[in-house]
Amino acid sequence: MVLMKVLLVNGSPHKDGCTYTALNEIVETLNSEGIETNIFWIGNKPLNGCIGCHTCSKKKKCVFDDKVNEFLDIAADYDGFIFGTPVHFAAAGGAITSFMDRVFYADLNAGKEAFYLKPAAGVISARRAGTTGTYDQLNKYFGLMQMPIVSSQYWNMVHGATPEQVKQDLEGLQTMRTLARNMAFLLNCKEVALKNGVKLPEREEGVFTNFIR
Ligand SMILES: Cc1cc2nc3c(=O)[nH]c(=O)nc-3n(C[C@H](O)[C@H](O)[C@H](O)COP(=O)(O)O)c2cc1C
Repeated sequence: MVLMKVLLVNGSPHKDGCTYTALNEIVETLNSEGIETNIFWIGNKPLNGCIGCHTCSKKKKCVFDDKVNEFLDIAADYDGFIFGTPVHFAAAGGAITSFMDRVFYADLNAGKEAFYLKPAAGVISARRAGTTGTYDQLNKYFGLMQMPIVSSQYWNMVHGATPEQVKQDLEGLQTMRTLARNMAFLLNCKEVALKNGVKLPEREEGVFTNFIR
């Protein structure tokens, strides 16, 4: 069996905060299932939003040389992805939103396909509210990137204002463990299928229709 690897993105400005606590529960479970893991922290330095310059089409990376290019450099080595975010004003944090916009736009424009058919999930951390809207927000990236969305026993969220409070959210942590086991199962299914001759889907030439008469 090939050793499979999952990359977990901590999209919080806090390296060891609530989002990390949720991701760490997933890491421990994935490791116990024989899946290798790494956590990629986006840091707490300013992360520019996408400026739509399309430099990524030519340079095959983002025009801003920061955490986004660091992540793009290693993404192809991984088999699955988890993106964690705190809720900021009932949406994903500004930095992780900029990060994901630029990561996926650059990957598409560069034609790198580092994410194609790789299972993904979003993990949401909040003190109280805005979790389901944020969950929808993250899933939209995976839906466009042809990344199968891994689900759990509940929508992937933990509650708490501190890591200690998150540790008291027993249902939230169980949801993380179930998500990890479901991710491991799907990764194993894909691996066995490809080994046994199941081919990746046939692909058509892309059609790009803008709504102009
Ligand atoms: C700017 C900002 C906005 C926030 N907005 C919300 C919110 O809308 N709903 C909520 O439940 N918590 C909100 N919080 C609290 C965080 O979501 C919560 O403490 C989070 O889980 C912290 O995760 P972290 O330790 O990984 O950064 C907000 C925090 C900040 C800094």
